[in-house]
Amino acid sequence: MPRTEFISTGLYVPERTLTNDDLRQWWDTSDEWIRERTGIETRHWVKPGEQAGSDLALEAARSALDRAGMQPKELDCIIYATLSPDYCFPGGGVYLQRKLGVPGIPALDIRNQCTGFIYGLSVADAWIRTGQYRRVLLVGAEVHSTGMDFTPAGRDISVLFGDGAGAAILGPTEDEGRGVLSTHLWADGRHAEQLWCEVETSARYPRVSHQDLDEGRQYAIMNGREVFKHAVTKMPQSVRTALEVNGLSEADVKLLIAHQANLRINEMVQRQLGLRDDQVYNNIQRYGNTTAATIPIAIHECAASGRLQRGDLLVLTAFGSGFTWGSAAVRW
Ligand code: ACO
Repeated sequence: MPRTEFISTGLYVPERTLTNDDLRQWWDTSDEWIRERTGIETRHWVKPGEQAGSDLALEAARSALDRAGMQPKELDCIIYATLSPDYCFPGGGVYLQRKLGVPGIPALDIRNQCTGFIYGLSVADAWIRTGQYRRVLLVGAEVHSTGMDFTPAGRDISVLFGDGAGAAILGPTEDEGRGVLSTHLWADGRHAEQLWCEVETSARYPRVSHQDLDEGRQYAIMNGREVFKHAVTKMPQSVRTALEVNGLSEADVKLLIAHQANLRINEMVQRQLGLRDDQVYNNIQRYGNTTAATIPIAIHECAASGRLQRGDLLVLTAFGSGFTWGSAAVRW
């Protein structure tokens, strides 16, 4: 059975860049508060109405296709991970497929928030190993900025998030020992409401009311401390599982890429695993939390800059709303 390799990667973020100070036009916040608690310095946001998530996904996909020297028609399927699809339905995958001009190929949407890319990687890996599809485009893309609460009440969440997309083209390799070694997925729905967006909801009628909008139920709500507490436990555990299953240890890790939710979370994860700074990559400083896009964006930056070299052990881990979490070990 072949393994799954990363054929190429790509990323795209909107041109509009906002510093922490720029956010003070909407919220009573400060560069110091945001940096100290999260590490974030800037983020990219779309100009509302000009770009949807599938537009960001398209640019990231094009960049991955260019780097692979491939045409869209060579793709066998699309997996699109997002918590911010262009519309309630259909999913973002079909819009990306339409924009790529490849009618007919399947387009699967993954709704596992910050863990979406790892869930998607697990599905892609299974398809590729069994030979069902040979060329899988896996994208994580988010537009958070159009869903933010621009009233004072929104300051705790809105300063954390950015828009962006990352893409990977995956395919089989016969090169033994290389490629995706394993993926590991978990979820615990008992914590679903610790980080969620309630409206609109098919759980009642009407799905959205004027009262909902007046009360701000269309915006995400997060119990930040609870998310923090679970993230710093579950991510190291998931990394250890990925290493143990493959008979590896922390010393073998060339690069750990963790979901970029908060630099402080990732520093704690690093400390718990006893990893050196050169074994860990963070870029939340420049992008904020782009949810399903953080991991493919970071992989692309490391691959493009030469920080990831053939044969390196790359470990991925993510934690987010659901709660969902997961990990992957990849021999680059
Ligand atoms: N600017 C200034 N002050 C703020 C802001 C802001 N943007 N937001 C909140 N505050 C204030 C609060 O009102 C509070 O003031 P008070 O003490 O007068 O009541 C004070 O800052 C502290 O607020 P806390 O919410 O207790 O701040 P905390 O230290 O917990 O940090 C944070 C908040 C950064 C969100 C933290 O809980 C965290 O990192 N949680 C992890 C969750 C996370 O990163 N989620 C990202 C999405 S989920 C994911 O991707 C995994």
